[in-house]
Amino acid sequence: MKQFLFLFVFALTTSLVQSQENLPTDYLTKEFHQGRREAFRALMPANSVAVVFSYPERVFSRDIDYNYHANPDMYYLSGYKEPDAILLIFKEAQGTEKYNEVLFVREKNATREMWTGRRLGIEGAKSKLGFTTVYNGKDFNAFAIDFSKFDKVIYDEFPTDAKESDHPDNLYVLLKSFKSKAGITKANEDSTNLFSKITSSLREIKTPEELVLMRKTVKLSCIAHNEVMKAVGPDMSENEVDGIHAYIHKHYGAEAEGYGPIVGAGANGCILHYWENNATKIDNQLLLMDVGSEYHGYSADVTRTIPANGKFTEEQKAIYQIVYDAQEAVFKICKEGTPLVALNETAKDVIAKGLIKLGIITDPKDVRLYYPHSCSHFLGLDVHDKGTYNGPQTLIKENMILTVEPGIYIPANSKCDKKWWNIGVRIEDDILMLKDSYENLSADSPRKWQDIEALAKQKSTFNDMKFPKI
Ligand code: GLY
Ligand code: MN
Ligand code: MN
Repeated sequence: MKQFLFLFVFALTTSLVQSQENLPTDYLTKEFHQGRREAFRALMPANSVAVVFSYPERVFSRDIDYNYHANPDMYYLSGYKEPDAILLIFKEAQGTEKYNEVLFVREKNATREMWTGRRLGIEGAKSKLGFTTVYNGKDFNAFAIDFSKFDKVIYDEFPTDAKESDHPDNLYVLLKSFKSKAGITKANEDSTNLFSKITSSLREIKTPEELVLMRKTVKLSCIAHNEVMKAVGPDMSENEVDGIHAYIHKHYGAEAEGYGPIVGAGANGCILHYWENNATKIDNQLLLMDVGSEYHGYSADVTRTIPANGKFTEEQKAIYQIVYDAQEAVFKICKEGTPLVALNETAKDVIAKGLIKLGIITDPKDVRLYYPHSCSHFLGLDVHDKGTYNGPQTLIKENMILTVEPGIYIPANSKCDKKWWNIGVRIEDDILMLKDSYENLSADSPRKWQDIEALAKQKSTFNDMKFPKI
């Protein structure tokens, strides 16, 4: 009987950890990740090896971790999304087996998987990710590799928050093993710079497979913004608005948000990276929403600023129109060959002129008081994605995705007429750069104040949701 029970439990745990049905079917393919490794290898110098570590698991509180987020570089180059892994990419084939890449993964373990989720293991990494040489992480220390024979060992900055552990396949131990095998105590700047240069030059240009996911994450984020435009009212809380976005993201299959959502009403909209979202009532104020989903690793980054009661005041409209005009001016130069810095210069110029016209500033240099950030950053696996930022030398290339996000923020007590205080406006769109023009991936969500007011008049499904009072 005991034996039978054991078998039953064994069967139950193995079947639990072996299969999972009804998964999304549009993940990046193993061919995509293989192709990215080939592209990475092509940029490596002769006789070099690259070493990529997974991100650590990070503590939420005591014995609870945050939901794990993979290192985007590890994901890009391997498709492996679990912690405690190392990927080696060699420029030239190694050993008699002629392998040119090795992946070390978390060992399969039925008990652990029953507690914390499925693991791909060696076989999964071979069949699902297309690797031929895969070992368990615990075998990394004994893996025969002489790092001193390479002219260059390329790696990223080491994570500093890997939890101390003596478990042989834990990231902390893997990092220790690598440092001891490579004879280093601290990351070498040449190595980390080269890693950053190669990954930036790859990730800044989106492949057709990535564009499919980018279009999706931006499209569904726009649907969320539009639904909020219809649903929102002065009695809603900032957090509730955040929740509508999150619900819609998940409805369309996004795993999460690409960054902490910013939902700020009135004065809160003037805090650039506001995150508390804890005002219980939006009231008759402007609501700045900078919210984008993460879909299969790819982040949207969309900001819309709307009046909670559906109608902009004259002052709000005047500020909004300057930000809109700044965006329009920047769009006109969005194409291959434009220096990246020109986007911000253009936005700054339009905003300065607009603020002078309204009497908010007199010296164009004071534009930085109310527009303190920059206009554009790369977007992709990270919301502030990897890419080359090399001053005026950096030119826009086809298939880059950049945000265009001018803004004006006038906190209370600013040195201008009181009527402008607590107006914070940002409009942010995600722009795919083309040879001679651009495509606004977030064009599905209205930007003109007239179109926002028109959409606000429509009813939302969320208005019909009733919950018990507590
Ligand atoms: N959501 C952060 C940013 O716009 O850069
Ligand atoms: Mn942004
Ligand atoms: Mn943003």
